[in-house]
Amino acid sequence: MAKDTSQTGPKHVAIIMDGNGRWATQRGRPRLFGHHAGAKRVRDIVEACPDLGVKYLTVFAFSTENWKRTQTEVAGLMKLFRRYIERESQALLKKGVRVRFIGDRVRLDDKLVSLMDELELLTAGNDLVHLTVAINYGGRDEVTRAAKRLAYDIEQGKLTHNDVDAETLAKYLDTHVLPDPDLVIRTSGEARVSNFLLWQTAYSEYEFVDTLWPDFTPAEFAKVLASYGTRDRRYGGVKA
Ligand code: IPE
Ligand code: IPE
Ligand code: MG
Repeated sequence: MAKDTSQTGPKHVAIIMDGNGRWATQRGRPRLFGHHAGAKRVRDIVEACPDLGVKYLTVFAFSTENWKRTQTEVAGLMKLFRRYIERESQALLKKGVRVRFIGDRVRLDDKLVSLMDELELLTAGNDLVHLTVAINYGGRDEVTRAAKRLAYDIEQGKLTHNDVDAETLAKYLDTHVLPDPDLVIRTSGEARVSNFLLWQTAYSEYEFVDTLWPDFTPAEFAKVLASYGTRDRRYGGVKA
């Protein structure tokens, strides 16, 4: 049994859910088979959050760079997102999960965007777990879009360049209502950030695990959270 991390553990965990393609390839199946298996895992991990004291969970589902993949894979993923929302909405609502989406919606198809909007609205009254799903999300793209809107507001005379500080800029990010992640987990053995939450992870802890995302269980999740409790976060200062 993993140790109880509900008091000392991270409040906001962000996950780079990587390794679906390799998981499928290892089984001689198409990559989309891995994405379907990966989507099922999201439910298990979300359900584990309340007991583990995780109030905010943010998951990377599709990056601004993932459009480079084959048309079959991209279309399959978009269909999976639509079906996932349709199938999981009621369960998420009943389980107290508030769902939000981050990323640029402009490039997503209208049907998917309306399902995303509806799910955000449907679960807006929930507060047990705050699940944020990053779709067509890139950290640089997010900061760029924020800068653009900030520049526009300056042009409109709503504020001046002297008002621009880190706090003000953060208000223009997709994540403006969320706390910064305490811990970022990446599965599949890759030790890189791949454009995920660049601004928000300035002082986040990182954990890279070899497990491929479809094999990442709540038990392993609990183990990773337990090891977080032993870290000394100094934020540039000295040990307390
Ligand atoms: C992560 O798994 C899911 C997405 C990026 C959509 P991958 O599809 O990147 O799986 P690997 O890294 O190729 O194994
Ligand atoms: C990051 O994984 C994006 C998601 C998990 C959605 P990738 O598989 O796209 O990242 P790279 O290409 O290995 O850097
Ligand atoms: Mg990958």
